[in-house]
Amino acid sequence: DWTPGNVIADQVAAIRAQVGDARVICGLSGGVDSSVAAALVQRAVGDQLTCVFVDHGLLRAGEAEQVERDFVAATGVKLVVRDEKQRFVGALAGHSDPETKRKIIGREFIRVFEDAARDVVDDAGAHGEEVRFLVQGTLYPDVVESGGGEGAANIKSHHNVGGLPDDLQFSLVEPLRTLFKDEVRAVGRELGVPEEIVARQPFPGPGLGIRIVGEVTAERLDTLRKADAIAREELTKAGLDDEIWQCPVVLLADVRSVGVQGDGRTYGHPIVLRPVSSEDAMTADWTRLPYDVLSVISTRITNEVSEVNRVVLDVTSKPPGTIEWE
Ligand code: XMP
Repeated sequence: DWTPGNVIADQVAAIRAQVGDARVICGLSGGVDSSVAAALVQRAVGDQLTCVFVDHGLLRAGEAEQVERDFVAATGVKLVVRDEKQRFVGALAGHSDPETKRKIIGREFIRVFEDAARDVVDDAGAHGEEVRFLVQGTLYPDVVESGGGEGAANIKSHHNVGGLPDDLQFSLVEPLRTLFKDEVRAVGRELGVPEEIVARQPFPGPGLGIRIVGEVTAERLDTLRKADAIAREELTKAGLDDEIWQCPVVLLADVRSVGVQGDGRTYGHPIVLRPVSSEDAMTADWTRLPYDVLSVISTRITNEVSEVNRVVLDVTSKPPGTIEWE
């Protein structure tokens, strides 16, 4: 029988058997998957777990604060926050190929986890057990689309599956590997993960790094963060959060178009809105958002974000488009 309670019981037993007395770290993004994975591992091995929140500079506005406020408050989990903005933006410099960017981000995540693991061991002092396990909130669709499933093509290297370096020092603990998103949400609710986290829309691990088509720079990240915050604010205000699965906001950094503002010519970048409806992210349709909401978002973005002079709507289903542009 599939029930959240049974999944929890099975996974708690499996995690205990896999991990034993060792220390475990978990990359926590604040999203549904990593939060539920962390809560499961905490249920299984308690204090042996340390969560690591990596501020990689590819986050949306307000995300770091939200993790500390919602998740730690609810679970009391041990959390380490690492400011790694320079590292990620530096490593991404000069790269615009999507798979290359994904692999770089995956590799840098692991390096940060290795650094964090050393600090955890140092803090443990006398105990000094090695950190040998890394928890990841990998879901079934991530496995399939990274080419890990039966007969599946490698569509994208999800940072937590296909993008791992060959010399990985950790064994992976992936308690959600057989689950779909709605099942993860059910498990999370059963574990008492707060609704603000369980109900969150998906956000990819590589963050805004794969929502800038072209090279990732600090300035472009700022531009995209502003546009994304406006879109999210207006969608929430219009009461549409439950209706859409997610709405990636994408900056076409390699594209410019001519515009006019006031008396002057502009030559700015387009922002793409990609609202989608989906059951499990394996397939999706574009969401028919109300025109007045689209209009407000477009007007605000072009007025408030000076680098952007055009807003376009992506009306492609998945397939043939994927949800994210990279
Ligand atoms: P695509 O673009 O493949 O996205 O249609 C399907 C779902 O997965 C999310 N996504 C990711 N999630 N790490 C993640 O944790 C990743 O590397 C990644 N890439 C895409 C995407 O936001 C959508 O919900």
